[in-house]
Amino acid sequence: MDVIAGEPQTVDTDLVIVSAFESQTNTLAPWVQATGGELERAIESKEFSGKLFETFVTPIAAAGFRARRLALVGLGSQSAFEVDTARRAATVAGLMARQRKIARIAFVADGALDNPDVIQAVAEGLTLAEFDPGQYKTTGDAQFQVRESTIVLKEGSREAGSAAVRRGRVIGQHCNLARQLDNEPGNSLTPSVFADRIAEVARSGGLAVETLDQADLERLGMGMLLGVGRGSAEPPRLVAMRYEPASAPRTPVLGLVGKGITFDTGGISIKPALDMGRMKDDMSGGAAVTCAMRAIAALGAPVRVVGVVPIAENMPGGRAIRPGDVLKSASGKTVEVVNTDAEGRLILGDALWYAQKLGATHLVDIATLTGAISVALGRITSGLFGTPQSFVDHVRAVAERAGDRSWPLPLFEEYKDELRSDIADMINTAGRMGGAITAAMFLREFTGGLPWIHLDIAGTAWAEENKPYMLKGPTGVGVRTLIAIASAISDWKLSADG
Ligand code: BES
Ligand code: MN
Ligand code: ZN
Repeated sequence: MDVIAGEPQTVDTDLVIVSAFESQTNTLAPWVQATGGELERAIESKEFSGKLFETFVTPIAAAGFRARRLALVGLGSQSAFEVDTARRAATVAGLMARQRKIARIAFVADGALDNPDVIQAVAEGLTLAEFDPGQYKTTGDAQFQVRESTIVLKEGSREAGSAAVRRGRVIGQHCNLARQLDNEPGNSLTPSVFADRIAEVARSGGLAVETLDQADLERLGMGMLLGVGRGSAEPPRLVAMRYEPASAPRTPVLGLVGKGITFDTGGISIKPALDMGRMKDDMSGGAAVTCAMRAIAALGAPVRVVGVVPIAENMPGGRAIRPGDVLKSASGKTVEVVNTDAEGRLILGDALWYAQKLGATHLVDIATLTGAISVALGRITSGLFGTPQSFVDHVRAVAERAGDRSWPLPLFEEYKDELRSDIADMINTAGRMGGAITAAMFLREFTGGLPWIHLDIAGTAWAEENKPYMLKGPTGVGVRTLIAIASAISDWKLSADG
């Protein structure tokens, strides 16, 4: 991704993209002359009025302009503008350029877009538009990619803007890498393959990596992760990554933990056939942790981070765990498995324990954990849980700016009663009512009282339909949030004692 600082009228490109707020199309005046009356006519007839994500394309005819065409993208009402509006508008423009098979595009970041946060978001948005979900298509029309994409800055924003573009580019690319992993089917991304991919991603980014195999997990007593993995011919794994820059203080140590179920059939408590294929993305949390960690290292955030991804395939089979089975966790707590489909919390429980063993002082887990979270919040907003409240508030604000919507749900003590077991310390699910909350309560039992955030992304990791700013398929939700948490660590006093 290139950066040019100067007059947008002079940029040599196939498509120059300019944005405008609703009923403020007067800001487009510098371009009126370029289009031989087309732009004026479109504004006059309301063909383009600046409505959110509205687009309009017209050739540039006049001499003195080096761009071949002009694209307009609407930003909606100025009072509703937020950083994410620019991110999405850039994705809309990038997707449009791909659809029209335009090789070179230049996005103009002037007016309200001329500030580093927004410029970074534009770079992210243009990069997110490059994602291709058809990775296994072999027939001809392999998806077109824009060859050259440029952001045009104001001369005075050259320095800060260029750094913002670099940052946005890195973040967007790591979101796309997570989306690519999420999109991999269960047969190509088995537990061992996923573990290898994580190690490869992490090592290529200079992170230290350790992969635990079944024997290691047995030695550590991770009975919950081993239990979930038993039904599969592919044994479970756990991958741990470390980012320890010399510039970082000894504490805090941020511990990121991501669910890595490569396919979730439900196990013996098997899921219905309808839409079961969606369960290939049940490792989205693990991919988010991996890709965020690589991005955090690439951006050189001055904070220590450990990442833990527990990996298993949840299958029925002759050796699979049964409803009623009791598992012993690495922490020592025992769990009665009343439903083998509530497997995510089991593997995460052991992984949260391991993150503490690696020295984490602050925990953040991310998981496609419950269908119940989409009943509560739909497909737009991730569930946010945690303790203390100030950490939750901080993460909500940071995530919002990063373009991942989340909303807090309660962890009232009374919910814990519902996890009572007659035979063990607790059961693994209290059923459908309040299911996202009781799942979070279960996880809390494994956090050792540390400051902790849990993000339930079951409703947001996969887009069920095309939106102007997001293609159907894996969304990469959470990657930007995790990067933002690590980057903004000094904004919230992440001292070792919370
Ligand atoms: N991976 C699922 C959660 C999920 C559901 C993710 C839909 C994406 C879309 C999880 O392992 C699961 O099966 N949860 C159960 C829990 C239940 C048995 C208490 C659920 O939500 O039905
Ligand atoms: Mn499940
Ligand atoms: Zn699952």
